[in-house]
Amino acid sequence: MSRLSGKVALVTGAASGIGAACAERFAREGAIVVGCDVQSEGLESWSAAAASAPEATFQGNLDVRDETAVAAWVQAARDQFGRVDVLLNAAGVAGGGPVHMMDLEEWRRVIDINLTGTFITSKHVLPAMLEQESGSIIHIASVEGLEGNEGGSSYNASKGGVVILMKNMAMDYGRKGIRVNAICPGFIDTPLLREVMSMPGLEEHTEKVRQQHQLGRFGRPEEIAGAAFFLASEDASFVTGQALAVDGGYTAGKRYGIAAMMGLE
Ligand code: NAI
Repeated sequence: MSRLSGKVALVTGAASGIGAACAERFAREGAIVVGCDVQSEGLESWSAAAASAPEATFQGNLDVRDETAVAAWVQAARDQFGRVDVLLNAAGVAGGGPVHMMDLEEWRRVIDINLTGTFITSKHVLPAMLEQESGSIIHIASVEGLEGNEGGSSYNASKGGVVILMKNMAMDYGRKGIRVNAICPGFIDTPLLREVMSMPGLEEHTEKVRQQHQLGRFGRPEEIAGAAFFLASEDASFVTGQALAVDGGYTAGKRYGIAAMMGLE
């Protein structure tokens, strides 16, 4: 039997990268997937895999910063499917730069999408989960929400905010049967990462960043989807309040360059 069958899973940022991979995995596991994205097209990126979940829907042109639109999207899912079991927040943008050179508008854009957008979708899904006294909320944060990195500023602040918001939500709603966790991906090969790495001056650093991952490679979106599936499923029934790094060892520790001395090069 499909392990998410009968579950209704809402996924933001479902048109691309990690969100699309999670939507696809949830659908393959039998969930009814209700996706959204600010991009207009998206369903085709994962609906092929959703053959087992033909009720899957996708709403384009939905900005997670728009509370009215988010509320209507969640309500439509409740009206059509009667419940919400999973919310996966993957909508997000890259950003950052040295603080002394950053426009306030750019700071606000990143915080608004990555952090406030996560708050808005959670706010509107929680009433359904409170009524059911069950649910799993999964925020896609980042390793950059767990530690600093050069030039991170607005992006790291937004993802650090997502991590602590997740912990507070886990505390507030655990007694109501609602689990809240975050996944902190390392660098994952998606359109977002390719765009960042192709910025002038950054291309030559790509290999260095790749090598910061102990496994020596960037991750794949489906590797994040695997962790998301675990957190959405009953296998994670006692897991809440956790920031799960799925990062190929990026946050394992620092290297001193002594691999050759240890015969491990
Ligand atoms: P992506 O660019 O492939 O997908 C992000 C999706 O979010 C896009 O489809 C985009 O249209 C959508 N989106 C952006 N702003 C939105 C808004 N205001 N309202 C609704 N949808 C919006 O990027 P990727 O890499 O799949 O990122 C997904 C999440 O994972 C993001 O939150 C990102 O910060 C996070 N992440 C990504 C990492 C990576 O290396 N790719 C590493 C760690 C975290």
